[in-house]
Order: sequence, then C-alpha cells, then structure tokens
Amino acid sequence: MRSAWARIDLGGLRHNMARVKQLAPHSRILGIVKANAYGHGLVEIARALTEHDSVAALGLARINEALRLRQAGISCPIVLLEGFFDAHELPLLAASQLQPVIHTEQQLQMLERASGLSAPLKVWLKVDSGMHRLGIAPQQLAAFQQRLRACDNVAGEPILMSHMACADERGHAQNTHQQAVIASIRALTPPSSLASFANSATLIQFPELQADWVRPGLMLYGASPVAEKNAAELDLKPVMTLCASVIATRDIKAGEAVGYGAHWVSRQATRLGVVAIGYGDGYPRHARTGTPVLINGKRYPIVGRVSMDMLTVDLGDDDIEAGATAVLWGLDRGLDTSRDETSEHSDSRAVLHVEEVAAFADTIAYELLCNIAQRVDYEYVE
Ligand SMILES: Cc1ncc(COP(=O)(O)O)c(C=O)c1O
Repeated sequence: MRSAWARIDLGGLRHNMARVKQLAPHSRILGIVKANAYGHGLVEIARALTEHDSVAALGLARINEALRLRQAGISCPIVLLEGFFDAHELPLLAASQLQPVIHTEQQLQMLERASGLSAPLKVWLKVDSGMHRLGIAPQQLAAFQQRLRACDNVAGEPILMSHMACADERGHAQNTHQQAVIASIRALTPPSSLASFANSATLIQFPELQADWVRPGLMLYGASPVAEKNAAELDLKPVMTLCASVIATRDIKAGEAVGYGAHWVSRQATRLGVVAIGYGDGYPRHARTGTPVLINGKRYPIVGRVSMDMLTVDLGDDDIEAGATAVLWGLDRGLDTSRDETSEHSDSRAVLHVEEVAAFADTIAYELLCNIAQRVDYEYVE
C-alpha cells in the first residue's frame, strides 16, 4: 500500500497547451512554471512544455528555480517575472541568459551602473495599469524606454508588460479601467515593440489583450482560471491527480466522535475509511467536513478534522476495504464508472476538480497545487 502520491498526466498538459494555442493563435507563449510548476515538478514540466518548441519561453519568479532549469539543460528563454533583487545577481543573469522584468527605478539604475556583464540582457518592462502591485507608473514609461534603449547592458527593445487584477471576474469594473490604461500605454509605444498583458484568465476572457505574448499558468495545469466556468467547460484536463491509500476502515456507532477535537459526531452507525494523506502532504487542513474524495469513481465526504498524516471519510454502507485508492483531486481511474460525473471532456472517468476542493477549504486551486509537500511521491504518465 502506498501513502500519498501525485500522478502527473503529461498528455493532459499537452492537451491544455494545445488549448492555449487554439485560444491565442497569434501569440507566442510564455509558459509559467514558477513554484515548482504550480506543484507539478519544475524540470519535468519544463521539459514537456519546451519539447517541439511548444512554448517560446518559460516564466519564473525566483532565480534559484531558473538556475535549476539551466542545470537540467533547459536552454529556452527564461523570464524572471519579478526581475532581479540585487545588483550582484546581474552577472548570473547574463551568464545564464535570464530575462528580467524591470519594474522599479532602482532596478533600472542597477542595470545602468553594472559593468563587465558577459552579455547584454533582454528585458521586459512592467507597467502598473491598476493592480498596484508591481510596475512603473504609465507616466514613467517613455523615460524608462528611453533609458533602457540607451543602456549598453540591455539587448534590443524592452518587451512591454502589465498584469490584470480581476480578469477572473469578467464583469468587474477594474477590468474596464485597466483595459483603458493598457490602451493608452500601447498608444505611447512604437508598433514594432512587443507587448504582453494576458495570464490564463485574461487570455480566455479578454482575447483583445492577448497581444504578442500570452503568459498562461493555471490553465496549463488544467484548472479553471475563471469564476464562471469550470475546467471541463473550458475543455481543460486536470494534470495532477492526487492519490492516497485507504489504510484502515472501521465501523462506528451513532453518537461516536471522529478525529482531533471530537469535532464531528456521527448521527448513525457508519463505516469510516482512513486515508493516508494530511496537511503534512499539503492537503488543506481547513477542508471542511463534506469535502469530497473519490473512491472507485464515487464521492465520499471527509468527516472530522484533517490531521497531519491522515483524514477520514464516511463510507456509509459501502464495502470498501483497506488498500483502495482515494483520489483527493483529479481523475479517478477506479472501478465504478457507472457513477461517472464527468462531461464528455474527461475521458469518462470520474473527475474531482481541484477548484471544487479549494472552495471547500476557502482557498484557490493555485494554493492547493503549489502546496504539495516534498514527501509526496510523483509519477509522470502520458
Ligand atoms: C506576471 C504574471 N503573469 C502570468 C502569471 C500566470 O497566471 P495564471 O496562473 O493565472 O495564468 C502570473 C501568476 O501569478 C504572473 O504573476
């Protein structure tokens, strides 16, 4: 019996990649693989995304992840979405051909003052169009572009970029505001200079913002980036299936409490399954009683608190034995396909979307995916 493992479906990843191409046929793809490829395994995902030049570049937030990719022989362009943090990192960026995003005056000065770089850097220039997290003000754009063009440490024209704060909610007023700001900054840049404004939600909801480069992350991993549609409706396939074994079953009587804090008390006699996964594996401790788990294609509710290494599900009258596989999210290849809850897009296997589980734990799919702990085994399948 195995404890917890993540099955990563590279065929699903390729399918989602093809969906990005279908939705944004005129844009180059900057595949976002930060945070261990959203928990899917940095090097394996980067290899799969870069084979046959499927993506034109990879995007990361941390230099250490970029260096891991270079050490693994990944040679495609790599963009550092927060740029560099200190001047001493610049020689490393030049030597490893990493492309920083410039978003502050300080970074620009470090770049202007650097000497002895092995090669000039290709850079991206981030403008704050209203998210107010990273980026220079639109009024600073012309001056920054001029200084970057004049800087010997910069190769070619900077690629203009900005990020949308609310693209997951199509009708949010912030979208109209940011679109107007983006239109105004585009009007200030020469048509020959390239631009990028779209993460997954933006490229789906606002095709007019796809521009020269799209920057999909979440949708590559098969989760829905938009509030109104689930992954199946967007024709995205879950890439990660998180599994664990049922390691024990026990019958309890009505009125008996289960787990830490005696938090949940059974109303009737029932059978419990103890599943070998907990918050020590990255499964969210805040998943409420009622959060679904799939076993043999059927949904069972978690009951009681999730503990570090285990959680319990209410199996009712079902005859499930220790050794069965529980699917915490993803595709269940279990035996009972008669209770198939899938759409035509999910290969007629039962599916539990990570977004659904996230809602039960008051969080988002991003957090669940990138929180998978190191002790979880990974297997890569086609
Ligand atoms: C600048 C930037 N672009 C693209 C992405 C990818 O976003 P998503 O995973 O929503 O597609 C991120 C993710 O946080 C980001 O920070």
